Formats: sequence, structure tokens, C-alpha cells
Amino acid sequence: MKNIVEHINSNTDNYINQLKDFLRIQSISTLPDHKKDMTEGAEFVANSFKAAGMNNVKVIKTKGHPLVYADWLNAPGKPTVLIYGHYDVQPVDPIDLWDSPPFDPVIKDGKIYARGATDDKGQMFVHIKSVEAFLKNGGTLPVNVKFLIEGEEEIGSHNLDEFVEINKKALKCDTILISDTALYATGVPTLTYGLRGIAYLEVELTGPNRDLHSGTFGGAVGNPINILAELITKLMNKNGRITIPGFYDDVLKISSKERASIRALKFSGQKYAKELGVKELKGEKNYSTLERTWVRPSLDCNGIFGGFTGKGAKTVLPSKATAKISMRLVPNQEPKKIAELFKKYIHQIAPKSVSVKINEIHGATPFVVSPNAKSIEAASKAMSIAFGRKTVFMREGGSIPIVASFLKKLKVPPVLMGLGLNTENLHSPNEHFDLKHFHLGILSSAYFFDEYSKS
Ligand code: BES
Ligand code: MN
Ligand code: MN
Repeated sequence: MKNIVEHINSNTDNYINQLKDFLRIQSISTLPDHKKDMTEGAEFVANSFKAAGMNNVKVIKTKGHPLVYADWLNAPGKPTVLIYGHYDVQPVDPIDLWDSPPFDPVIKDGKIYARGATDDKGQMFVHIKSVEAFLKNGGTLPVNVKFLIEGEEEIGSHNLDEFVEINKKALKCDTILISDTALYATGVPTLTYGLRGIAYLEVELTGPNRDLHSGTFGGAVGNPINILAELITKLMNKNGRITIPGFYDDVLKISSKERASIRALKFSGQKYAKELGVKELKGEKNYSTLERTWVRPSLDCNGIFGGFTGKGAKTVLPSKATAKISMRLVPNQEPKKIAELFKKYIHQIAPKSVSVKINEIHGATPFVVSPNAKSIEAASKAMSIAFGRKTVFMREGGSIPIVASFLKKLKVPPVLMGLGLNTENLHSPNEHFDLKHFHLGILSSAYFFDEYSKS
């Protein structure tokens, strides 16, 4: 391992320059105008695999954005690691709030600023570089490796899901390694053993057949915005419980053992609130902040629009109003079932003065796994060596849609070796990635291959 570690340590500046090139690509999966950038993103990943010495490098077309595959299978008798990540990124708006252009990476105080820096280009690149360090020093890896990198994670991974189903045999592996989550705190090696799922829907209300003068008609005709606001507030009660009938039926109760292990983590609600600029936290009664985001479901309106939103005033009683609503789910809630319950309830409580249309946008199944798997133990050891302290275990509130389907279809444990921080502004302006964690991540990845091959 000594020569591998030295190779990594002496090449970190090169790695950062390559990461900068990756971050310049505007691979925003949700915006049709960026289709070409998506191809460029996939090509960049494929070329990085080739440069690392990987075999069978393929850019695979899908109905949406391409997948990138590569493997190295010359370690007979050793386990196989499937590495997943995504090269697509979120849109950049509101662009005015960025201190530097989102696709022009800059380094400030040891952090690299750009869209995708922490989610997920910086994190996934770590594994390409660790593989490269092995293949450039002796030409072999201690384990077999398959990479599967996608361009549709931020839009629900629909095409990857189908690909995994069809290619179950080719993707056969002993564990799945993913860096697309967060460290518990800066410098603290962390493994995540559960993620929430999601059900995301859009509710459109239509009232009168056209926009109306709010003076002549106001008071006599139902206003879709007012009604939409009413409906949203009816979805949760004053104890922070979601009121949709049947919503909690499948929720797994947290064990007292897990409760205790979460309570044992150092956490300050005050610091958390202060960092977010709020005077008080808000959530489900009788649960702590970490429990509220890791093991309890939640419901949020992500966007709401309708009527006049320009500067100044326009007196109008609008014809339509729309809200985008997501529910974060926990085991064993099923996104399809929850979406049905949501639709049924909205139709039931909506007054006749509006007509209701509901679209399902996407979903992801939540999961939790036992942290005792061999690969997770090897990863815990590997991260401890790289970071120089004990690895902690946690769950996360975010979702990675494909993980539950990997679990169902490939039936192997996932190692969620997150390297980001939840304060690194993923999905928001001034996204960044701590380059210290980038470096420690490459080392963790390398130690993982070594530890896992010995187990
Ligand atoms: N990497 C994130 C998920 C994440 C964020 C996990 C922070 C742990 C900590 C991922 O790219 C993401 O944003 N997922 C979406 C999924 C959705 C679009 C289906 C999410 O959670 O909103
Ligand atoms: Mn991600
Ligand atoms: Mn994301």
C-alpha cells in the first residue's frame, strides 16, 4: 500500500486539475438545452476510465442520458466491487446568488466551488483516481471492479433501473460502493446504512376558466391559490404529523437500540439552527432533529406558483395554481402506495369550486441495512486508517433512487462512503467540496480495496 499512498499523495494537484475540467461541463440532466453537455459528461467519465487503465469502457445510450460502464476483472478468487456514481448535476438557479460562476471552478480556503463539486462529480471521481493509482503501480487491483456511472440520478434514475433489471448477470458483484452522501462532520469518517425514499407529485388546481378581475369577481369565486394553500396546510397537523389516512401504516418503528446510538452522536440543535439562520427548529413532536430527518417521514412543498409573480401589483384572481410536493419516506413505505394515498386524500378534501389534476413526478424506495456486512466492516477500517479516527455510522434524509433497486436486484450490501458535507450547498448556490475530504476519499477508496480483498 505504501507506493499506492505515495502515488496518490504526490498526484493530488493533478487530480484537482482534472476534477476542474470535469466540473466545467454543464451536465444538468433536467434541462433539455443541456443534452449535448450530458454527452460530454459521459465522454469525460469514459476517457477518465481509459486513462486509469480500466477495461471494457463503454458509453451506453439509453432513452435518456447515457450510462458509462468500465471494468477490471483480473483478480480471480477475489470479491467484485460495483462502484456507482452520477455525473449529472442540478440546475444552477438562482444564479445571482453565486459568488463565482457555477461552471468555472475556483478554489478558496481549500474548498473547490462549482455545481456538482460535492454532488456528485467530486465524490465519484475519488474512486476513478484510486483505481488509477493501483493500475499505474504494478498494473493490478486487489479486487475486481465494475463501474456504473449514470446521468439521470437527479431526475429519478428511470432508465438505469431498467438497465439494471436487464443486465443483472453482467452486474453481478459482492458489494456496491457509492460516494454520494455526507460525512457526519468535517474530518469524521462516516458510513451511512440507511436512506430515506421519496414520492414527488405536482398538484394543479383550476378554478374559473380564465384569469378574472379580483375586484369584480373576488369574494364570489374560489381562488385556486387560496384553496391550494388551504389544502397544503391540511396535510400536516400541529404536532408535525402527516394527516393523509394510512400514511404511517408501513412505517418501521425505530428500535430503542438505534435510538440510543443516534443519541450518542454529538449533536447541537442550537448550532444547527444558527448555521441555517433560523431561531427555532420545527418538526414532529417527540422526535429529535436527527430522528426527524433520518428515521421519520416528512412532507414539504418544494415550489408553488400561479397568478401574478412579477414586480409591483396586478389585481387578478387566477385561473390556475400549482404546487410541487414531496414526501420523504422511511422503511417500509412504498412510494407508489404513498402517491395513491396522497392523490385520494387531496381529491377527497378539495372543494368543488376547483378541479384537481395530480401528476406523479418520481419516486424512490427507502432502505436500511445491517452495518455488519463484511464490505461495510472493511470500509469502516479503511476510512479509519485514511482519516486517522474511528468511523461513525449514520442514516441520511436524502435519497439515491437506484440503491433500493440494486438491493432488490443484485442482493448485495451497499457501502455508502459519503465524503461530502450537508453544509456544502448541494442543490443550492455556491456548492463546494472540501479538497481535504477529496484527498482522504481517494485514500479511503484505496484502503477499502486492500482491506476488502483481505476479508
Ligand atoms: N446525493 C444526493 C442524495 C443525498 C444528499 C444523500 C445528501 C445524502 C445526503 C442525490 O444526488 C440527490 O440529490 N437525490 C435526490 C433524489 C431525487 C431527485 C429522486 C434527492 O434526495 O432529492
Ligand atoms: Mn448525488
Ligand atoms: Mn443531488
